Amino acid sequence: MTVFDRLESEVQSYARSFPVTFEKAEGAWLTDENGNRYLDFLAGAGSLNYGHNHPVLQEKLIDYIKSNGITHGLDMHTKAKEAFLTALEDKILKPRDMDYKVQFTGPTGTNAVEAALKLARRVKGRETVISFTNGFHGCTLGALAITGNEHHRGAAGVSLDNAVAVPFDGYMGDSVDTVDYLDRVLSDNSSGVSLPAAVIVEAVQGEGGLNAADFGWLKKLEQTCRKHDILLIVDDIQAGCGRTGTFFSFEPAGIKPDMITLSKSLSAYGLPFAVVLMKPEFDVWHPGEHNGTFRGNNHAFVTATAALDHFWSDDKFASEVSDKAEFLGKRLEEIAERYGDGKIYRKGRGLMQGICFESGELASKVTKECFKHNLIIETSGPEDEVVKCLVPLIISKQDLGHGLDILELATAKAMGKDVVAVKAAAE
Ligand SMILES: Cc1ncc(COP(=O)(O)O)c(C=O)c1O
Repeated sequence: MTVFDRLESEVQSYARSFPVTFEKAEGAWLTDENGNRYLDFLAGAGSLNYGHNHPVLQEKLIDYIKSNGITHGLDMHTKAKEAFLTALEDKILKPRDMDYKVQFTGPTGTNAVEAALKLARRVKGRETVISFTNGFHGCTLGALAITGNEHHRGAAGVSLDNAVAVPFDGYMGDSVDTVDYLDRVLSDNSSGVSLPAAVIVEAVQGEGGLNAADFGWLKKLEQTCRKHDILLIVDDIQAGCGRTGTFFSFEPAGIKPDMITLSKSLSAYGLPFAVVLMKPEFDVWHPGEHNGTFRGNNHAFVTATAALDHFWSDDKFASEVSDKAEFLGKRLEEIAERYGDGKIYRKGRGLMQGICFESGELASKVTKECFKHNLIIETSGPEDEVVKCLVPLIISKQDLGHGLDILELATAKAMGKDVVAVKAAAE
């Protein structure tokens, strides 16, 4: 029996899918204790957009540590925090004409969500927050109340209140515009839905199964929020930091959310770090109200700053991501077409795409087979039916192609087809 079996809680999740002991990692590759290499199509659930141990970020971090730079700073002003805020302002906010203040929350995504919810309720003096079907915002109680997933909600142990879920884009099929539904219930004072403080949305639902909202739908959602005097919060914890090809996932929709939550790849190095961006007029916090010991992870500030400088000083990185996203999308469509008999299809946007299978059982067969071929890839969606390619954005085209070859092989096997024969027939 290993120490993990003896001591580690049953709550483990990813460790069950990939039952080896990892030791090292570089770029898009992980190595286990026996020297076996695995291609990483999970990227720390979206927290390693720039891959493992990126040399530019690593060097900055090592230099900082060796110079006895501050590691833990509560929320005190430090040179590392100053550099981060300056880089965020210069590289991200100003070029996008975005006027926001930055709240450093506890270092997990769910803590940033809690802060945004509290603040929205304070600003509007209302309790309800509207969320969307299949949304995922974290596992603390406030975030769980606006999260759809029954498995996670079931663990709360208390009632999850002050939240109303409405249908996400596409939930009712292509012919129903679900913002019209939202507008209708908000306009009818007998609808049973009380006026909320805020609406919280992911532009691409990650855990919910790679549901990508239409840009026009997002724009209309913003207009509906304005019409009813409701704040719009975009949870960009998974889809942000370049994952969809732009720094923020909602940029192509041309919207300006009232609040934005960021975490996961914000530190760029897998270090815990989360923030809420809010329009300045909504920064109505009193000092220390949303406190937390770990709001000053200065190592995360150092690597985040290095990433903003290195990747976001011009458009080169973003256009590389878009290029790879196009390649990924084409390959996934090909795979779905070749082996799916019309029953499986590509989903998602940017480097946040995958294949939707008929059942979670089939998708799980695929990911298990992938792991046999040293590809780390996970599922998402209400029934875990979507195999999700969350590749590091820095992955080479060659490695991306290699991983997709494995995914193709695994899909063919799960669908009971011969990969070579089907490929030959398709050519
Ligand atoms: C969109 C979104 N919001 C919030 C969270 C919660 O972040 P964390 O797991 O760091 O608490 C996640 C995590 O997957 C997420 O995808």
